[in-house]
Amino acid sequence: MYFAKGFLFLLPQTFLLFLLQFGFSQDTITISKPIRDGDVLVSKGETFALGFFSPGASTNRYVGIRYYRAPEQPVVWVANRDNPINDTSGVLSIDVHGNLLLHVEDRNQRIWSTNIVTQSSNNSTHAQLLDSGNLILVLNKTSEVLWQSFDYPTDTTLPNMKLGLDRTTGLNRILTSWKSKDDPGTGNCSYVLNTNSSSPELYLYKSNILWWRSGHWNGFGWSGVPPLSHPNYLFNFSIVNNQTETTTSWVELLPEIFSRLVVDESGSIQRFLSREGDQGWFSLGSAPLDRCDNYGKCGAFGKCQLQNDTEFECTCLPGFQPKSPSEWSLRNASSGCVRKRGQASICKSGDGFVKVENVKLPDSSFARVDEKLSLKECEQQCLENCSCAAYGVVDAKEEVGCLRWYGELIDTRVLNGGQNLYVRVDALELGHSMGFFANKRRLAILVVGLLVITSLLIFQFAHFLIKRKRKGRGRQPTLNSDVTASSTTFQDSQKLDEGIENLDLPFFDISTILAATDNFSFAKRLGQGGFGPVYKGQLANGQEIAIKTLSRSSRQGTEEFKNEVMLIAKLQHRNLVRLFGCCIHKEEKMLIYEYMPNKSLDLFIFDEIEGKIMDWRKRFEIISGIARGVLYLHQDSREKIIHRDLKASNVLLDATMKPKISDFGLARLFRDDQIEANTNRVVGTYGYMSPEYAMEGLYSIKSDVFSFGVLTLEIISGKRNNHYLTGSPYLNLIGHVWDLWMEGKALDIVDSSLAQVYSASEVLRCIQIGLLCVQEQAADRPTMAEIIFMLGNETTLPQPGKPAFINKRTINYGQDSSSSTRAPTSLNDVTISVIEAR
Ligand SMILES: *[C@@H]1O[C@H](CO)[C@@H](O)[C@H](O)[C@H]1NC(C)=O
Ligand SMILES: *[C@@H]1O[C@H](CO)[C@@H](O)[C@H](O)[C@H]1NC(C)=O
Ligand SMILES: *[C@@H]1O[C@H](CO)[C@@H](O)[C@H](O)[C@H]1NC(C)=O
Ligand SMILES: *[C@@H]1O[C@H](CO)[C@@H](O)[C@H](O)[C@H]1NC(C)=O
Ligand SMILES: *[C@@H]1O[C@H](CO)[C@@H](O)[C@H](O)[C@H]1NC(C)=O
Ligand SMILES: *[C@@H]1O[C@H](CO)[C@@H](O)[C@H](O)[C@H]1NC(C)=O
Ligand SMILES: *[C@@H]1O[C@H](CO)[C@@H](O)[C@H](O)[C@H]1NC(C)=O
Ligand SMILES: *[C@@H]1O[C@H](CO)[C@@H](O)[C@H](O)[C@H]1NC(C)=O
Ligand SMILES: *[C@@H]1O[C@H](CO)[C@@H](O)[C@H](O)[C@H]1NC(C)=O
Ligand SMILES: *[C@@H]1O[C@H](CO)[C@@H](O)[C@H](O)[C@H]1NC(C)=O
Ligand SMILES: *[C@@H]1O[C@H](CO)[C@@H](O)[C@H](O)[C@H]1NC(C)=O
Repeated sequence: MYFAKGFLFLLPQTFLLFLLQFGFSQDTITISKPIRDGDVLVSKGETFALGFFSPGASTNRYVGIRYYRAPEQPVVWVANRDNPINDTSGVLSIDVHGNLLLHVEDRNQRIWSTNIVTQSSNNSTHAQLLDSGNLILVLNKTSEVLWQSFDYPTDTTLPNMKLGLDRTTGLNRILTSWKSKDDPGTGNCSYVLNTNSSSPELYLYKSNILWWRSGHWNGFGWSGVPPLSHPNYLFNFSIVNNQTETTTSWVELLPEIFSRLVVDESGSIQRFLSREGDQGWFSLGSAPLDRCDNYGKCGAFGKCQLQNDTEFECTCLPGFQPKSPSEWSLRNASSGCVRKRGQASICKSGDGFVKVENVKLPDSSFARVDEKLSLKECEQQCLENCSCAAYGVVDAKEEVGCLRWYGELIDTRVLNGGQNLYVRVDALELGHSMGFFANKRRLAILVVGLLVITSLLIFQFAHFLIKRKRKGRGRQPTLNSDVTASSTTFQDSQKLDEGIENLDLPFFDISTILAATDNFSFAKRLGQGGFGPVYKGQLANGQEIAIKTLSRSSRQGTEEFKNEVMLIAKLQHRNLVRLFGCCIHKEEKMLIYEYMPNKSLDLFIFDEIEGKIMDWRKRFEIISGIARGVLYLHQDSREKIIHRDLKASNVLLDATMKPKISDFGLARLFRDDQIEANTNRVVGTYGYMSPEYAMEGLYSIKSDVFSFGVLTLEIISGKRNNHYLTGSPYLNLIGHVWDLWMEGKALDIVDSSLAQVYSASEVLRCIQIGLLCVQEQAADRPTMAEIIFMLGNETTLPQPGKPAFINKRTINYGQDSSSSTRAPTSLNDVTISVIEAR
């Protein structure tokens, strides 16, 4: 034991050896068994260890808890963070009162104590380190927990650890950063649950300045936290807000993973994940991320939206203008915005709300919450009180609950997967925001008016001429004739329109659709798409069709929508599902497709039973067919189309099991960088998203190539990319395949449904092509034309580079400060979430 003194921590292997030699193993401290510098307390399952350590370059000694089996053994809790010991003579023991006490024996110096006042005698408590990372002080008689380290967090939260207020004891658990990598002392940054409000949010403070907030709890999690940092298949987050406590915590849903959330000294919150045997920790995401994350960046009633480096990110909410235009022009938005026509302009008849889409809702500490109200009732409540400035939905999952703001709207920012904010505006502004339609209507009235007047004049002129020719005749009744003349003009133009529609445009009448689907009967429902239900129907001529409804989705005008549908309907290829046309009825838009009796590819390849139908030949044909379909979209069609959401469920199978890609061109119909699902959440399908899209929203044909690569590997393996594979050090399929490929065992991945019946060289070739497609750099990935060549010819293929999403970024805790403070530069597999657009 002597030689161990003064060392940081023993390496696990050394420690095991040590255990074997000396039989020294304990997870408890009792009055007779204190811990000295050099001793280590290890939890039963060997997950955490407690002992003395010196962080970074420091020589001071601290008592802390750190991971034991996880890579790098990061420290998660420090007892004497502000009161280090300057040598190795510290002892952690149970004192005469039953408290845990850290002291220096030689100098009789008290360093730190749990300070729980107990009447109990000296021998009646013990301390135990649990596998959760919690150090508890227990009363021997009753097993009552008198004190626990989870109640006094330092800079880290672990699963099952609560942040927030216990109202019965007044204990408020907050996170505080270290001072530096070398000094675990109480730093300047803290992460606090604001427990004063009926809608609690997490606040990040930097030197007492509110720096960032998490956004309100929206049923899924904290609304302002990037969705990537809380994949819902890894964690379950929860919040409790009642009379006894206001707290938040999370649990891990998978075994065998280690995860922690840390607030570091630079003021960044990061969530890390690792597994035993990994080389380091993944950063799952961090906050704040960009300028718009700065609390109150654009002042009261401002809205922050990052566009590009040249554009100022602040604008005012609808109905507002900068309070100080001169400051604003200098890009200082701190004084915020005011109502264009003063506060007095609202609260008159004609007030209304303008929807601001996809935002992190303003600071809800100042909002009123009604968990039960619907959106409609919420609007009504807000309208009734003049000081109500805006409202929104609390629970984005259930779309219920009413948040209303009475006062300033602070810290609104545009966020992918954000919610809708309804801002109160006066009647004039309401007119403006609908200006496009209003003007159009005015224009229409003007045109009709002009038509009437012109035809009236022409008619009168003709009439005048006739009258001049037929002298002596009596006056004609002009009024009636005028009406007839003008209405004739109308009918003619209408006929002309109908003519065009019937000739070229694939437009269906709503009555046709109603007849084909038995009035959208439930029996005809095929399923639920991301935009609305999908129905099966049969036209009068016997043609079977699938009708995809796009309720409340497209932000496009009807004309543009028609144009796009026309364009997409013209794309025809044997590997594309035929789009017959569309139907527009009031707000409802529908797309009419050819009906595919065998549904979609995912129902086969991911199913053990159905998978047997798909022998290798069939799978190879499907891979080739998909490649040809995508190539046509990219290259051969008149317009270059990027699919953007290529995945197994978007590949449909016809009666002979030939693949046909569906939903191509859908992105065009939505005029948005991302297709939006009806939940208003982010979208795309993470398992198939290329890194440049997932990180930067950049889209190119190479993003489709990436998705094609994922799809190919899925078809070969019969496993979903974004599903966790037991026994693999990676959390997705790509990483797993890459590992096997590097070990020369790539064929291990082949779906067992194939029962070893396949051409090994062909399968290997397809795996290699798949890996080439999922490379990190878009430029390294082949084009679809090259892929088709590779599939069809026995040429030598290039060696694939490392795929995207499997980088394991190493965080050297306590050593390299730059790496853990940086925003994550590469996504890793675990950030791939199971959120699906449809
Ligand atoms: C450690 O601190 C104590 C007083 O707190 C002092 O007496 C002692 O000399 C110091 N030891 C060293 C090695 O600095
Ligand atoms: C236990 O506490 C008593 C005083 O309450 C003290 O006299 C005694 O020495 C303590 N025993 C030990 C082993 O520390
Ligand atoms: C605890 O200490 C008391 C005296 O303080 C003693 O009578 C008792 O035997 C001790 N119990 C144990 C289990 O050591
Ligand atoms: C208190 O309980 C622990 C664990 O059960 C035991 O190791 C310890 O000896 C007990 N202490 C006393 C004084 O009985
Ligand atoms: C913390 O803030 C104080 C003043 O507010 C400053 O002097 C000090 O340098 C800061 N410390 C760190 C580690 O940023
Ligand atoms: C909550 O209220 C208490 C007492 O009124 C106050 O000290 C504290 O700063 C408030 N917390 C926040 C986050 O506003
Ligand atoms: C998450 O936690 C809540 C409440 O603690 C529970 O009802 C729910 O089933 C959990 N979800 C999962 C996926 O474990
Ligand atoms: C508050 O919630 C906690 C955890 O769900 C529960 O244990 C406690 O009894 C609740 N308190 C009240 C007053 O409902
Ligand atoms: C930045 O965005 C604005 C508006 O979105 C655009 O007018 C401007 O050209 C862009 N500048 C650059 C350098 O891309
Ligand atoms: C922005 O304007 C405010 C006054 O409204 C001023 O106090 C502040 O210093 C300005 N900020 C910068 C960066 O100029
Ligand atoms: C409107 O709301 C404000 C702020 O909550 C409140 O003070 C006021 O009494 C309300 N007015 C009416 C008419 O309800």
